[in-house]
Amino acid sequence: MSETLEARPAPLPDHVPPALVWDHDLALFAESRHADPYVEVAEELHAGPDIRWTANAHPGRPAWLMTRHALMEEVMQRPDVFSSSTATDLSDVLGVSWRQVPLEIDPPRHMGFRQMLQPWFQPSAINRLEEMLRRDCQVLVDGIIDRGSAEFMSEFAQLFPSTVFLRLMGLPLELRDQFLEWEHQLVRSEGLARLEALRTIVDYLSEMMLEKRRNPTEGDLASHIATARVNGELMEEGEMFGMALTLYVGGLDTVASSLGWYFRHLAGDQPLQQRLREDPTRIPDAVDELLRAHGVTAQLRLVTRDIEFHGVHMRAGDMVSIPTFLASRDDRAYADPHRIDIDRKPRHLTLATGPHNCLGIHLAKREIKIVLEEWLSRTSSIRITEGDSYRWQNHGVWGVSYLPLSWER
Ligand code: HEM
Repeated sequence: MSETLEARPAPLPDHVPPALVWDHDLALFAESRHADPYVEVAEELHAGPDIRWTANAHPGRPAWLMTRHALMEEVMQRPDVFSSSTATDLSDVLGVSWRQVPLEIDPPRHMGFRQMLQPWFQPSAINRLEEMLRRDCQVLVDGIIDRGSAEFMSEFAQLFPSTVFLRLMGLPLELRDQFLEWEHQLVRSEGLARLEALRTIVDYLSEMMLEKRRNPTEGDLASHIATARVNGELMEEGEMFGMALTLYVGGLDTVASSLGWYFRHLAGDQPLQQRLREDPTRIPDAVDELLRAHGVTAQLRLVTRDIEFHGVHMRAGDMVSIPTFLASRDDRAYADPHRIDIDRKPRHLTLATGPHNCLGIHLAKREIKIVLEEWLSRTSSIRITEGDSYRWQNHGVWGVSYLPLSWER
């Protein structure tokens, strides 16, 4: 009999108690086409043990699954036990020796990279960018507002963060269509096609960074990264490529996916839309609450030594998954977690905590605030287009893939 080429499930490691196995794949959760995946994944996983074992936390990567906010917070804050050194599979997929910087660098080395980037991401730097970002947002909204309807993801939500990335890195806006095509291939395809898209992006970013090192320009982040010193040294080329890729991956799909969830919520919550139109000073609170309720990432950590963690024996080399979309809806952390309530003033993990907390936190919040202000001030009601419905997918980031919206002015 010929050998089948299909991947066989890895045998269960002998230190994993069968009672802790969750025999669904987190990576495949999207395939069940849940109407509201946040509610359904929480109902499913908060009903059982707090720590589970899943064969596919990310495709092909078995891991311990943290299902509760408090456990995720602890994992994020203990980098000595839970290392970020293999947080993504991108370097392995690409076959390169460098990793994503600073995302996959553990403390204390991590600190130098953060300090180098920090001035570009602190609130005063974002204040300087705001006017340009708002103009870019207005141009995009103006382009579709008179039509009264649009497919929000492809006609707005994916365009805006790409624009922001190009502005930040000092790249021409004409590159946006090309960037979107790559991004589209990256998140919509699998296997070889995904690898090809990833290689094309990395080749472009690497060449761009080398050019910025040869001929730095004034006032853009790419030139800063290419010429800055970390602990007194220029970064190695691989570190520079890894940093450009982290900024690309970190700031595009996360923001687009989040905007998709927020507009999907708003489209079904007319009172909240109205409240924010009447009092736009509450928009920052809405941003925090929408972020709280819609974690979109599930990052990975590598266990560095054998430990007992909340009663579970973990071995050095095990992976741990921290799905922030489950922290978002943890009823031990939030009363009535599925209700969007802008008076909550929540602490949340959507933008992480600990040494790797999201570097783009102020930028992300400002982008979302601008988008809400520009859309709500130009419309009197936004709804899901009648007869149509939204779709979502899980491609590493939980994201809305199709969102038909209609509005009145
Ligand atoms: C709503 C949008 C966003 C979400 C939900 C988000 C989420 C996250 C999360 C959960 C982490 C921690 C990853 C880990 O612990 O392994 C992270 C890190 C990071 N994010 Fe964001 N992010 C967003 C927007 C952005 C933006 C706009 C940028 C800027 C380009 C950005 C840049 C980064 C970087 C560079 C890191 C790595 C930080 C480090 O390792 O020290 N993010 N983000």
